[in-house]
Amino acid sequence: MNKNATAPLAGRGLTKNFGQVAALRGVDIDIAAGQSVAIMGPSGSGKSTLLHCLAGIIAPTSGQVTLGDQVISSLSDAKRSRIRLTHFGFVFQDGQLVPELPARENVAVPLLLAGVPRGQALSTADTWLERLGVGTERNRRPGEMSGGQLQRVAIARALAGGPDVVFADEPTGALDQATGHEVMQILSTTAQMSGATLVVVTHDPLVAGWCDRLVEIRDGVIHADTVTNQPRPRPVQDALTGGELR
Ligand SMILES: Nc1ncnc2c1ncn2[C@@H]1O[C@H](COP(=O)(O)OP(=O)(O)OP(=O)(O)O)[C@@H](O)[C@H]1O
Ligand SMILES: [Mg+2]
Repeated sequence: MNKNATAPLAGRGLTKNFGQVAALRGVDIDIAAGQSVAIMGPSGSGKSTLLHCLAGIIAPTSGQVTLGDQVISSLSDAKRSRIRLTHFGFVFQDGQLVPELPARENVAVPLLLAGVPRGQALSTADTWLERLGVGTERNRRPGEMSGGQLQRVAIARALAGGPDVVFADEPTGALDQATGHEVMQILSTTAQMSGATLVVVTHDPLVAGWCDRLVEIRDGVIHADTVTNQPRPRPVQDALTGGELR
């Protein structure tokens, strides 16, 4: 699972209808391996639907999603689940951690599901919690942590399996602005150091500013697509132990 070269991700002619609602109306997007892309747009414009299609969480009504040379949109639900487990990581607004499990076990869950032996999964989880600056919280349950700590645990969980792509849907949406930007900085730098592609849906232009590229969606189509070309800010040294992440 731990690969050095990640694969490009692409959507071709993506449409998605929910009954009468056309949530996506023909989206073409190519995302280079290792690129970070922010998706912005008004509420209801199709951002989450696009992210869910690219991540194989839902199948598009028409069109194709490819990861490298593999067409993932036409796979069965079971095969798409397997791709999600082995190639993708996810961070959502509320972290979606299992409330009954301590942080280290939450981070280990995707590794265990992918067949990594328990001892190895827990030690990988501990390493990632350290990297994300929440090593001391490893035995706490989600109810005993702050919003910023929870998102750091969620980022550790998303990255621990060495994913090709990390998908984040409003990862800072439940945080105050300062904590949100800290979390986004950490997400952006750890994804970059891991060589993972990053796709982030956000309403916050400053969060989007951490990405290489800004894609703006309106009414289910791409309205603007801009390479921001800004050099990435430097990693937060006190939060990251540095060095090779994979
Ligand atoms: N499961 C669903 N069933 C029915 N309609 C849906 C479903 N998911 C999304 N939609 C509709 O599709 C459109 C796009 O929704 P989507 O969630 O992608 O928007 P969004 O850009 O992520 O909005 P927000 O910023 O509010 O999260 C909306 O009109 C929404 O109501
Ligand atoms: Mg959304």
